[in-house]
Amino acid sequence: MPILLPDMEEAALDALRNDRFLRGENVVKFEEEFARFVGTRYAVALSSGTAALDFIFSVLGVSDQKVVTSTWSFIASANSIAHAGGRPVLADISETDYCLDPEQVEQDLEQGARGVLPVHIYGHPVDWDRFEELGQRYRVPVVEDACQAHGARYKGRPVGSLGIAAAFSFYPSKNMTVLGDGGMVTTNDETIAGQVAKIRDQGRSSEYEHDIMGYTARMNTVNAAIGRAQLKHLREWNDRRRVIADSYFRSLTDLTPSIRLPPRPSKDVEPVYHQFVIRSEKRDQLRGYMRDKGVQCNIHYPIPIHLQPLYMSTFGYAGKTFPRSELMARECLSLPMHPFLTDDDVNYVSEQMTAFFRRGA
Ligand SMILES: Cc1ncc(COP(=O)(O)O)c(C=O)c1O
Repeated sequence: MPILLPDMEEAALDALRNDRFLRGENVVKFEEEFARFVGTRYAVALSSGTAALDFIFSVLGVSDQKVVTSTWSFIASANSIAHAGGRPVLADISETDYCLDPEQVEQDLEQGARGVLPVHIYGHPVDWDRFEELGQRYRVPVVEDACQAHGARYKGRPVGSLGIAAAFSFYPSKNMTVLGDGGMVTTNDETIAGQVAKIRDQGRSSEYEHDIMGYTARMNTVNAAIGRAQLKHLREWNDRRRVIADSYFRSLTDLTPSIRLPPRPSKDVEPVYHQFVIRSEKRDQLRGYMRDKGVQCNIHYPIPIHLQPLYMSTFGYAGKTFPRSELMARECLSLPMHPFLTDDDVNYVSEQMTAFFRRGA
């Protein structure tokens, strides 16, 4: 649920009236503030999360190389590898956290994959130590897809600062948004930051000179101004999401094993609950029941990437199966989750869930 508060309206109007429409002061400030938030030396603002991923892979140079990512993600994770000329290799998820399974990644690395893109799905940080270890052992870059995980932490370190580079999205449904499309690359690597900044601006080396291939993929100044205002609220919004998640965990525990709750937080893993996703064999009946009771629950995602028509026809995935992701597609249900839900809203959702299972549906 995108949030438009008066401070964001003021920031947007101020940017429109007083800043440059493109390459404005607000863009530079947003990059500095976001880099500080994530704890990296650099942040580069872009027109989308997809552009952020695309350009990281372009700079890493994955042409004709295999890069492994999760089939249980938004399609952009895999597409970005192809956009940069690489070959997306899809792998299944782990049963416990629904993130890319390191065991399967290892098999793909054994078979020649030259990079890994774990996805912090639903705002839940991946088990980073395993990926870091694989990256070092096979000498391949590990890039983070942090598009759903603004503010999540792994062993006290913010996601976005763990890999060689990371991509964030500010699409309106995210934990923070620029109220339009937008993205960010975060990295400690000066070359990656510099090259990504160049690619977003037509590969410009000076005003009328271009020495590498690029695109028009800058972030608009007005969006950056809104992003700065949103960033100020992010910690408080994420805290509220955690309180809501706690409430769901407490009141829905009795419904297990009819439902399966999301992975729990731990001292090492601090999620930000972009989504609160449960599993149930009766997912479709439950969803219909909740809809009748006025509760909108969504499905993220109905189709894993390997079953997308594009991936079956173009990337050779027809007939391939990844059972854990396919099970998720059949059983997953995202409960309402955003920082402006009231306690009454959250209790109502839990009560209706309980009523569904108590009536022996
Ligand atoms: C996991 C994941 N990766 C990549 C993206 C792409 O971001 P965008 O929609 O900003 O291009 C998204 C978001 O939509 C996402 O959820």
